Amino acid sequence: MSLLTITHLKVHFPTQDGMVKAIDTIDLEIANSERLGLIGETGCGKTVLGMSIIRLLQPSTKIEGEIWYKGKDLLKLSEGEMRKIRGKEIAMILQNPTTSLNPVLKVGDQIAEAIQLHQGLDKRAAREKAVEMLESVKIPSPDKRANEYPHEFSGGMKERAMIAMGLACNPSLIIADEPTKGLDVTIKMQIVKLLKEVSRRKSMLFITHDLGVATQICDNIAVMYAGELVEYAKTEDVFKNPLHPYTQGFLNSLPNMGLKPIRGMSPSLIDLPSGCRFHPRCDHASAKCTIEHPPMVEIEKGHSVRCFLYT
Ligand SMILES: Nc1ncnc2c1ncn2[C@@H]1O[C@H](COP(=O)(O)OP(=O)(O)O)[C@@H](O)[C@H]1O
Ligand SMILES: [Mg+2]
Repeated sequence: MSLLTITHLKVHFPTQDGMVKAIDTIDLEIANSERLGLIGETGCGKTVLGMSIIRLLQPSTKIEGEIWYKGKDLLKLSEGEMRKIRGKEIAMILQNPTTSLNPVLKVGDQIAEAIQLHQGLDKRAAREKAVEMLESVKIPSPDKRANEYPHEFSGGMKERAMIAMGLACNPSLIIADEPTKGLDVTIKMQIVKLLKEVSRRKSMLFITHDLGVATQICDNIAVMYAGELVEYAKTEDVFKNPLHPYTQGFLNSLPNMGLKPIRGMSPSLIDLPSGCRFHPRCDHASAKCTIEHPPMVEIEKGHSVRCFLYT
C-alpha cells in the first residue's frame, strides 16, 4: 500500500531572471516499507522534492499538485498541522550536518529537544532517550558524547548524530538527502549499513547522486532529469536494463563503468528545451524528440520510461 502519493507536483521559484521550474512535473509513490532511491545530476531538483514533501520551502514558492500522506494532502495542511507531521511522521536527514546541527548546543540536548517537542516527554526522559538514540546509531560512549558539541564530532559521527535526530521520534517516512556526501569510503559504507538497518520496516526516500550507494539500500530507483522523472524501475533493472539514454549515460559516467561523461550540460530550469528535455544531449534524438514532450510509459511491469525510443 502506498504511504506517500505525489501527483502532478510542480514547484517553481520566481527569481529576477525568471521562473525556475525546479519540479515540473512529478508523479511518484512510496509504498509502506519501500526504500526508494532518487538519483540525478546536481541541480535537477532532488532536494527541492524532499523539501516540498516536508514543506520547508520559502513562502514565495509556487507549488501545485498534491502530496498525499496517510489520507491527508500535505500541501493543504496548516503550518500548525504540518509541524505535527514534520519530524514526528516524516523526518528529513539533511545534506550537510555541519550546517544542520546547531554549533552552540550539545548534541544530546539537540536530540532531546526534538524528542521533547514531539513526544511530550519531560526533560530527563528526553535526555535518556537521546542517549539511547546515539547508542542506536552506534556512537561509542553515548553518555559522554551526548555532552559534546558538534565540532567535537568527526564528519561520520556528525552524520550519525543527524540520523539519530531524524529517527528520534520514530518517523514512518525518512527523507535522506545525500547522507553520504563528502564522507570517505570506509565511513560511507558504515553509514550505508546503518541507514539500511534503521530504515527496516520504514519507508525511505533516499536522495543521492551515488548510484553505488543507492543499489545497496533501495528497492526501486527513480531517475530525475531537469525537474521530471525520466525512468523508474526496480534497482537491479536500472543497472541491468537501463532504458532512458540519460540513465544509460549516467551509468557510463560512473567511475567503475568507464567514466564517460554525458556530452553537453544540464539545461537551465528557467528556459527548458522544447520536446524531450534531454534531446540536446541525446545521441538517439529524432525530429519528434525536439518538438513533442514524451510521456512516462510503463514498458514492463514496474519499469517506466519517458522516451520515444520505446513508444
Ligand atoms: N529558493 C530557490 N530559489 C531559486 N531557485 C532555487 C531555489 N532552491 C533551489 N533552486 C534551484 O532549483 C534547482 C534544483 O535544486 P536542487 O533541488 O537543490 O537540486 P539537486 O538537489 O538535485 O542538486 C536548481 O537549479 C536550484 O538552483
Ligand atoms: Mg541536493
